Amino acid sequence: MEFSLTEKQKMLKKITRQFAEEYIVPIARESDEKQELDDKVFQKMKEMNYFGGCIPEEYGGAGLHNDTIGFSIIIEEISRADAAWGITTAVHNGVAAYPIYKYGTEEQKQKFLIDLAKGNKIGAFCLTEANAGSDAGGVQLTAVKDGDEYILNGTKIFATSGGIAGTLLVVAKTGEKESRKQMTVFIVDNKTPGYSVGVKEDKMGVRASNTSELVFQDVRVPQENILGNPGEGFKMAMKILDFGRIGIAAQCVGLGQAALEASIKYANERVQFNQPIGRFQAIQWKIADMSCAIESARLFTFKAAYLHDIGSEFGIASSMAKLVASEAAMQAAHGAVQIHGGYGLMKAYPVERYFRDAKMGEIYEGTSEIQRLVIAANLLKKGA
Ligand code: CAA
Repeated sequence: MEFSLTEKQKMLKKITRQFAEEYIVPIARESDEKQELDDKVFQKMKEMNYFGGCIPEEYGGAGLHNDTIGFSIIIEEISRADAAWGITTAVHNGVAAYPIYKYGTEEQKQKFLIDLAKGNKIGAFCLTEANAGSDAGGVQLTAVKDGDEYILNGTKIFATSGGIAGTLLVVAKTGEKESRKQMTVFIVDNKTPGYSVGVKEDKMGVRASNTSELVFQDVRVPQENILGNPGEGFKMAMKILDFGRIGIAAQCVGLGQAALEASIKYANERVQFNQPIGRFQAIQWKIADMSCAIESARLFTFKAAYLHDIGSEFGIASSMAKLVASEAAMQAAHGAVQIHGGYGLMKAYPVERYFRDAKMGEIYEGTSEIQRLVIAANLLKKGA
């Protein structure tokens, strides 16, 4: 077993940290307040090829499609600066661009992947509906075949980057067989007539990341835009989420790391009872527990990434990573606010934002309860 990063991975960490410290950290609070991602950072992200993170170089990407540990490192470092940029980059790569690379036809790759890799278009994954949250099988948005096209009707909600996305992976109901819904995943361009962005959500955390309602009214999509096979969309969506959850885990590791570092700095500086509060055991134990939680979350994330890259079954590992990392980030953010005391409640200190951001990780791309369900169901199915 090898615990050290490759030279390339170490370099990715160093470069991304420098980039994030220089461009993202200084405006993270402002972006949170404005509920908008900064344009200058956006342009820089494009130049640095972060939107092409897990896309092969032949499609204009950074070539980390077979180095998910490297990809996780990028997401961790970006999220350490601002979890809103972390989720935007993770979702774009993990549940939009990468699935087109992995399951798409060559024609689809030429048509959609190159623009996604360059960041000319942002990607979104549209599964959730008013009646299909944890119960992904409850999708009601329909796609009805009409000649060589499908006509999509319905509404998606809570789509990360939905309002800024140019390329959408849309999970639609395409029929019913033996009383079970048949679903299909479509690649939809945002310029398609009948498609519109609805309500932009006003969220608790990762506020700079766009979360929107998306409306499909007689949206005609050519059948060559089907990702995978018609009728197999539910399993496709599950496989997409298996990979996507590694990115969310990495996002949570970065956020938790930021909360830990802020706590260490504050504990060394803040003097009460004539000494830095870091000398008190009550603070030391919190810092020790936070660092153990973050480090185990990082190892879980790298393990899931590693299993993916060697072509092994990684679904359970990605659910474990997402579960452990999101709860570690919450623990770290909670501890960080507590260590900062009254200052931790103030917007002048980033830990206030970390606390709100951390809660999101336990919800999106499958709640902690769903991760436990996936892990247990798989283990029980396999047997002792
Ligand atoms: N890979 C391949 N196949 C899978 C699979 C996987 N990971 N998981 C399940 N399947 C298959 C099953 O084997 C089964 O196949 P058969 O019919 O051949 O037996 C089929 O899919 C149905 O499986 P289940 O009976 O287990 O399905 P279910 O209805 O009980 O649901 C669930 C299972 C795990 C709860 C699923 O609904 C789920 O993951 N829910 C959470 C959804 C989620 O994460 N939503 C977040 C959306 S994205 C988001 O947050 C916003 C964003 O913008 C990023």
